[in-house]
Amino acid sequence: MQISLDYTNMMADAIGAEYGVSDDELAALSSRTAEIHAQICQSREQGELPFFDLPEESEMLAEVQVLAAELRQSFENIIVLGIGGSALGTAAVMRALSLTHNLQGSEQRPGAPRLFVLDNVDPDGFSAHLALCHPAKTCFLVVSKSGATVETSCQFLLARQWVETAVGTQNFQDHFVLITDPENGVLRALAQQHGYRSCTIPPGVGGRFSVLTPVGLLPLACAGVDIAALMQGAADFAKKVCHGDLMTNPAYLNATLQYLAYQKGLKISVMMPYSDRLRDIADWFRQLWAESLGKRYGLNGQELFVGPTPINALGTTDQHSQVQLYMEGPVDKVVTFIAVDRFANDLKMSKYDAAPQLDYLSGHSMAELIGVELLATTAALTRNHRPNCTLRVSEVSPESVGALLYLFEVQTLFAGYLFEVNPLDQPGVEEGKQFTYALMGREGFEEKGREYASIQSRSKPRLLDC
Ligand code: PA5
Repeated sequence: MQISLDYTNMMADAIGAEYGVSDDELAALSSRTAEIHAQICQSREQGELPFFDLPEESEMLAEVQVLAAELRQSFENIIVLGIGGSALGTAAVMRALSLTHNLQGSEQRPGAPRLFVLDNVDPDGFSAHLALCHPAKTCFLVVSKSGATVETSCQFLLARQWVETAVGTQNFQDHFVLITDPENGVLRALAQQHGYRSCTIPPGVGGRFSVLTPVGLLPLACAGVDIAALMQGAADFAKKVCHGDLMTNPAYLNATLQYLAYQKGLKISVMMPYSDRLRDIADWFRQLWAESLGKRYGLNGQELFVGPTPINALGTTDQHSQVQLYMEGPVDKVVTFIAVDRFANDLKMSKYDAAPQLDYLSGHSMAELIGVELLATTAALTRNHRPNCTLRVSEVSPESVGALLYLFEVQTLFAGYLFEVNPLDQPGVEEGKQFTYALMGREGFEEKGREYASIQSRSKPRLLDC
C-alpha cells in the first residue's frame, strides 16, 4: 500500500506567483512547523491527543471483534444511530471497503448483516429504513460521545419503542449496544442501570476523530470489514506523519499548502476523489475540516472568524456539474484530487463496427479512462492557474483507507494550530442546540426560549406563499 502527495500544481512555478506557493513561503514555515510539532508531542505525552494512539489499541480491537462476532450471529441488520462524527466515518469506510454490501443477497455476504447508518431525524428516512428490517433480527448501535445529542436521543427512543413492541419488555435491551463515554451521559447511565450492552469511546477522543474506536470499528466489523487491517494501515502510516520535518511529512505539508493557499484568498477547499469507493471519505473529511477549523476565536481568545470551507465532489461525475465553476468561476478554491492506481476490477472496451466514431476507445479500459480524465482535469485547472494537488493511493484496501483516515486527522490537527484555533472543539454548534432544547420544552432552557421569541419579534415577517 502506497500513498503519495503530488503538490506540483500548488506551486508558483506551475500556476504562477499570484496563487501558487513558493519554496520560500514553505521554507519560512518550517520553524513554525517544528514549534507546532513539539507542542503536539508534548500534548501527546500528557495524554491530551489520544486519537494518535488508537491504531495501537489492540485490546480495544480484540474486544470489538468478540462483540461483533456475537452480533453477526444474532442479527441480520445492524443500524447505527448517531450523527456527525458518530456516523460519518462508519458510512465512509463502509462505502470504501464494501461498496454494494447491502444490495447483495445474504449468500454473497455470509454472516455479515446489512449495515445502515441513520444520521438524521427525518421521519420519512427513518421509517423507510425500519420498514426494511424485522425488529427481532435488528440490532441498533447507539453512538453518542456526549450521550446527550438530541437527534440520537430521538432515534434511540423511537427504535426502543419499535423493538419493545415487537419482542416484548423482557428482551428488548439485547437489541441495543450503547457506544458512549465511559462515565457520563444518559447512555452510560442506561448501560449501568438497565442491562444494555455498551462500548466505551476513549476519553479525550472527540466525535470526528473517533472512527478508529468502537464508534466505527464495531459496525464495520459487524458488516465484515477487516478492521484489524484498517488499524494496521493507520498504524503503519502513523510513522510517516508523526515527525516534524515539514517537507517529508505529508499531513503537515498538505495542511501547510492549504493554509498558504487560504492566505492568498483561496478560502474554499474541494476534495474530489476519482473513485466511487472513496466518495464518502471526502464527505467525512468535509465535517472534520469544517468543524475543526471554522472558528470565531483563536487560541489566545482573539477574534478571527477563520476557516476554509470544505466541499466534496466526485470525479468524473462532477466534471459535468462542478468543474465549470472550479475552472472559470472566482479563483477561491484549492482542489485536492484523490487518485486510485489500481481498481479491484477493470473493464476493457472492444471495437463495435456499427459505431466507428467510438473506435478511439477500443482497447482501452474504464480504469484507464477515469485515470486519464483526472489527469485532463488537473492539466486544465493548472493551465487556468488554479491550484490543485493529487493524493494518489495504490489501491483501495483496508490498509490504505486506514492510512487516509489517519493522514487527514493529523493534517486537520496540524492545520488547526497553523490557523491558531483549537481544532478539537466546536463551540459554534452549541447555540443552535440550546434553541432546540428550548423549543422542545427541555427544563432549564426557558431563558433561551425567551431569547428565541425576542429574535423572532425583532423583524417583520416576510413570507411569500406560492
Ligand atoms: O465531531 C464532533 O464532535 C461532532 O460532530 C459530534 O460527533 C456530533 O455532534 C455528535 O455528538 P455525540 O457523539 O456527542 O452525540
